[in-house]
Amino acid sequence: MSVEDRYRIERAKWDALASKELPGVSVLPPTATFYTYARKVSVMAGVNEFLGDLQGKQVLECGCGLGEISILLAKSGAYVTAFDLSPVSVAVARRRAVMNIADTKINLAVAAGESMPFADERFDVIFGKGILHHLDANLGCNDLCRVLKSGGKAVFVEPMGMNPILNFVRAYIPYRHKHPRGADRPLKYDDIHRWGKPFKEFRYQEIQLLSMFERGFGFNKRFTILRRADAVLLKRLPFLRRYCRYVVMFMVK
Ligand SMILES: C[S@@+](CC[C@H](N)C(=O)[O-])C[C@H]1O[C@@H](n2cnc3c(N)ncnc32)[C@H](O)[C@@H]1O
Repeated sequence: MSVEDRYRIERAKWDALASKELPGVSVLPPTATFYTYARKVSVMAGVNEFLGDLQGKQVLECGCGLGEISILLAKSGAYVTAFDLSPVSVAVARRRAVMNIADTKINLAVAAGESMPFADERFDVIFGKGILHHLDANLGCNDLCRVLKSGGKAVFVEPMGMNPILNFVRAYIPYRHKHPRGADRPLKYDDIHRWGKPFKEFRYQEIQLLSMFERGFGFNKRFTILRRADAVLLKRLPFLRRYCRYVVMFMVK
């Protein structure tokens, strides 16, 4: 599929979803920050520890969608730049930003992740959740590294695509909060390594094997026993890691 076709499909899908959200944009709780979010949401495992203090940092959020995380980053003291391919998503994010925080701390743009309109070495930190698997790694990985300062950190939380049962469910089984299919492709190890290649340091951690079933009980419900079982299984039987639902990728330039 050509890049233009991919952009057209993705823009149509995310514009349509975002337009339903526009009337319902609300103010986030005053105590909510990126740190509280990352502690609460299971797929953000290790993110706070890796990024540390965000106060005063220039942070880029790739594929910001409706802007909730961008606002949380700004509420944590960062100067935030965020972009998304979908103009309607960016309009929702802009409205949220105005309602939640001094507008001047968030700079929002409509852009594609494979060719970002930012200067070289502009950011201390880059964050993305559920974005790399929408991009072409061959086109995007050098650009990602280009906009990060030397010594800067990047972290991405992405769905993995190597569990055949999960892939079947994603393709064919209806479930609550399921989005229509776009042009995205959950990551395989080849993609993960391609994204990490331009960086000086790169590691990743597969997460959610049994604990992926928490989702069936409602978003972000904690089932400690499943998480403990994951910790043991993924350490003792590394071949199971490829069947996890998510991967967290940690890069240093
Ligand atoms: C799964 S959503 C994630 C949104 C947000 N990060 C979150 O966690 O709620 C994926 C987002 O990627 C955006 N997107 C898709 N292809 C893109 C591209 N080539 N460049 C930039 N953004 C893209 C979509 O518009 C959508 O907002």
